[in-house]
Amino acid sequence: MAEYTKNNRLPAWSLVLIPLLLLPIVALTGAGYPDTTSADHAFVGVDGCKMCHRSAAKGNQFGQWEGSRHAKAFETLSSDAAKAIATEKGLGNPQEAAECLACHTTGPGGEHAATWKAEEGVGCEACHGAGADYNKFPIMRDHEQSVANGMLVPNEETCLKCHNDNSPTFKGFDFEEKHAKIAHPDPTKG
Ligand code: HEC
Ligand code: HEC
Ligand code: HEC
Ligand code: HEC
Repeated sequence: MAEYTKNNRLPAWSLVLIPLLLLPIVALTGAGYPDTTSADHAFVGVDGCKMCHRSAAKGNQFGQWEGSRHAKAFETLSSDAAKAIATEKGLGNPQEAAECLACHTTGPGGEHAATWKAEEGVGCEACHGAGADYNKFPIMRDHEQSVANGMLVPNEETCLKCHNDNSPTFKGFDFEEKHAKIAHPDPTKG
């Protein structure tokens, strides 16, 4: 067994500094913010889904998403309205503020593959779970295996992680109405 010497200990300053560095992450994983830091899988971004989910015959989920507000969620943070909200909250550039990125990007603070981009805003994995381990054909075609590898089946709870009063522009959320606007069913399924 290794001898326990003074050198194995963390320096005294770290007792203060490390908790301080973790504070923003802890604060943002509280109720009303999507919990993405605890995901065991890496986020690959929309490029890791679109090649298999853009056929019109099967519902073109990629095309539906690309035309939705979710795909513009990061861009929205560069608007004058976004800057005004950030200024009022004493934040700098909203596209760099953790408090805004928490809901306007996919899996902030989680593990990201090189293909992930903040610019994609609220991508597939914000609702379906980090995809690096389930986005393979033999796994995807099997529902149980997809779930075992990190795929989530989204429901109203999923939406409420972001559509809640921690959103500075929140005006209420009606699941049926909002879901109809983003629905992307596969017409070949029952
Ligand atoms: C290599 C091709 C491929 C890639 C890449 C892929 N998928 Fe799939 N996905 C499939 C296939 C095949 C199915 C099963 C479709 C069927 O049964 O007709 C499927 C099914 C699904 C389903 C329904 C699963 C169920 O059991 O309810 C979801 C949701 C889904 N994919 C999301 C994603 C997301 C999100 C990504 C990116 C992270 C992704 N897929 C990447 C091929 C792929
Ligand atoms: C990771 C956070 C996040 C999740 C999860 C999420 N959304 Fe959103 N949603 C947003 C953001 C951010 C916007 C604003 C995008 C913009 O306009 O730039 C938005 C906008 C929308 C809009 C367009 C604006 C409106 O209110 O009509 C609809 C519709 C919508 N979301 C539906 C849903 C539904 C349904 C779910 C769940 C199945 C969901 N969202 C899950 C973050 C999220
Ligand atoms: C808890 C999640 C959440 C957080 C945190 C969040 N947003 Fe949003 N944001 C949303 C959702 C969801 C929408 C779309 C529906 C709505 O307005 O609530 C949205 C919409 C917006 C819009 C478009 C509003 C419109 O009416 O077109 C702006 C601008 C915006 N957010 C700016 C910001 C800024 C700036 C921050 C950081 C200070 C921020 N948001 C933080 C979830 C969030
Ligand atoms: C805002 C949340 C949200 C986003 C973003 C999102 N989805 Fe979905 N997706 C859902 C919901 C909700 C369902 C329906 C789940 C259910 O009831 O089975 C669904 C269903 C699906 C299905 C199954 C369709 C069927 O009828 O079998 C596929 C495949 C899928 N999504 C792929 C994608 C892909 C690929 C992307 C990105 C290009 C994406 N989704 C983005 C929420 C989302």
